[in-house]
Amino acid sequence: MCGIVGAINHHNIVPDLLQGLSNIEYRGYDSAGIAIANQAGLITVKRQGKLQCLRDQLSQNKLRSYVGIGHTRWATHGKPNEANAHPHSTAEVSVVHNGIIENYLTLRQWLCAEGFNFSSDTDTEVIPHLISYFLHQGESPRAALCHALSKLEGAFALGVLFRDDPEHLYAVRRGSPLVIGQGDQGLCLGSDTMALPAYIDRIMYLEEDEIACLSADSFELTDQHGKVITRTMQAFSADQSAQQTHTHQHHMHREIHQQPETIRDTLRHTRRSLSDLPFDFNRLERLHIVACGTSYYAAMIAKYWFEQIARLPVDVDIASEFRYRAPLLSQQGLSLFISQSGETADTLAALRYADTLGQKTGGIVNVAQSSIARESRFHLQTHAGAEIGVASTKAFTAQLVVLATLAVYAASCRNQHTFTENYQLQLDLTALPGLAAHALTLEGHCKHIGQSLKNCKNAFFIGRGAHFPLALEGALKLKEISYLHAEGFGAGELKHGPISLIEQGVPVFVLAPKNQLLEKTLANMEEVAARGARCIVLGEQQSLQNLPAHIETLQLPEFESPFSPILYAIALQLIAYHAALALGTDVDQPRNLAKSVTVE
Ligand code: M6R
Repeated sequence: MCGIVGAINHHNIVPDLLQGLSNIEYRGYDSAGIAIANQAGLITVKRQGKLQCLRDQLSQNKLRSYVGIGHTRWATHGKPNEANAHPHSTAEVSVVHNGIIENYLTLRQWLCAEGFNFSSDTDTEVIPHLISYFLHQGESPRAALCHALSKLEGAFALGVLFRDDPEHLYAVRRGSPLVIGQGDQGLCLGSDTMALPAYIDRIMYLEEDEIACLSADSFELTDQHGKVITRTMQAFSADQSAQQTHTHQHHMHREIHQQPETIRDTLRHTRRSLSDLPFDFNRLERLHIVACGTSYYAAMIAKYWFEQIARLPVDVDIASEFRYRAPLLSQQGLSLFISQSGETADTLAALRYADTLGQKTGGIVNVAQSSIARESRFHLQTHAGAEIGVASTKAFTAQLVVLATLAVYAASCRNQHTFTENYQLQLDLTALPGLAAHALTLEGHCKHIGQSLKNCKNAFFIGRGAHFPLALEGALKLKEISYLHAEGFGAGELKHGPISLIEQGVPVFVLAPKNQLLEKTLANMEEVAARGARCIVLGEQQSLQNLPAHIETLQLPEFESPFSPILYAIALQLIAYHAALALGTDVDQPRNLAKSVTVE
């Protein structure tokens, strides 16, 4: 979602701001802008559309400054146009903002009555006007900022620049993450570490209601009453390689191909962390897993694993529903929150809610310093590395690897298996990186299938058992990057309604692993094939061997294991990728989507 950058330095910061904005393009945005302070006062330049539009504009202006802020906006209040783009500025102050100001209508009404003119439809614009109001009362920049903060309700991260205090750059956090960084060339701020320039070697995440006042050589941290807070920065080294697509055309393609390595790393790290888990699976009555989007589908798949392998009951919730259904949480239970970014607003709010109910909470995150990692009582990290493509691929399979490893460990803690059974599950896990590499060799075939979807209007995905949620994920992957309409169903559910959507030639992907449900899944395939569907069956050799000639197949590596959804996921990612490529969509930054969804 929206991204913030800021820098204060002894050299011209405009290139740093643009580089920072470019690094966080992956978060998803629809307009971009910067504001700088120099002898001419505050200068704000913003443009609707891609960052290149802003770059083109700036190349004509030749702006220079030692201090500035920048923003990529993902529209919430008001259309994605130039007037609504950030920074929002008055003559005295410029502001970039992530989050939502909940009482903005009341504030706006009051400020209008005080004679302030608004030029956007955003909630953000009340902030610079409010600060200006207090400046006009004779308050110092810092006092006016604190005074304004005391009037704001909602969740936000702010970068604030004053015309009359160009030696300082202010950063504020309430609810939305913000990180400050320091290096030999100066200080900067960002909505995540990706926003920070390469010279930054120390960072610090702001805590709730902290204000950082940055100068070119140092910073001061205070609370909103001016009380100084002492905290040291942590060493940091930017992962510059994540910003490159290397030999791949897209980040998504590179990330799909990184999976043998990310699965191996995640497996190794998760196995090492098991002995440090701060709870005993044997004493656990129930597991609650909460997440959004693809992470939610990982949770749904894990429910099958925990219940079948470890005989541990599991409830799975979409994070945006969790708090509002007043869930009955077992006091001897554990609530797990899964999030690639670790910043998803609904998942974070669900975690905080579970915490207030006295639950043991744990996070499964890809970003080690994210809010969910910091606020859950313990966390496990997926070692997928930075995921830049908006569509989650390697982070999803890494989540599945953590969950599968936990489920096998839970089974042994709960004495659910013989030594031999447990040993076999461990072997299955260990085989995953190699099998993932094998699955990637199917790319040519997946490309052919993906391209063949180019003229379709709809596509369906069906599966049973743990492959039912994978069917939902396959459909999500296809629709989010190709914009084709796609739906996933439990294979047995089709005849209860969705089968009416089947018409001649509509593609139906049938996930048919070799397991005890195979016959039933293939019977469901026959039902749609009989009604003219183009069935594409994904399965191992034995699943596919007796299919009629008109049924298309994609043969996955032999892997008769509960963890086979991890391999099928790779094939579905490749099909979605090549469908999107054939349709010419923006694969890495699909329309309307954001990588990190920081509003509820
Ligand atoms: O960062 P999170 O894992 O919490 O994100 C959850 C969803 O927003 C995310 O999985 C989304 O559905 C992706 N676009 C899926 O590819």
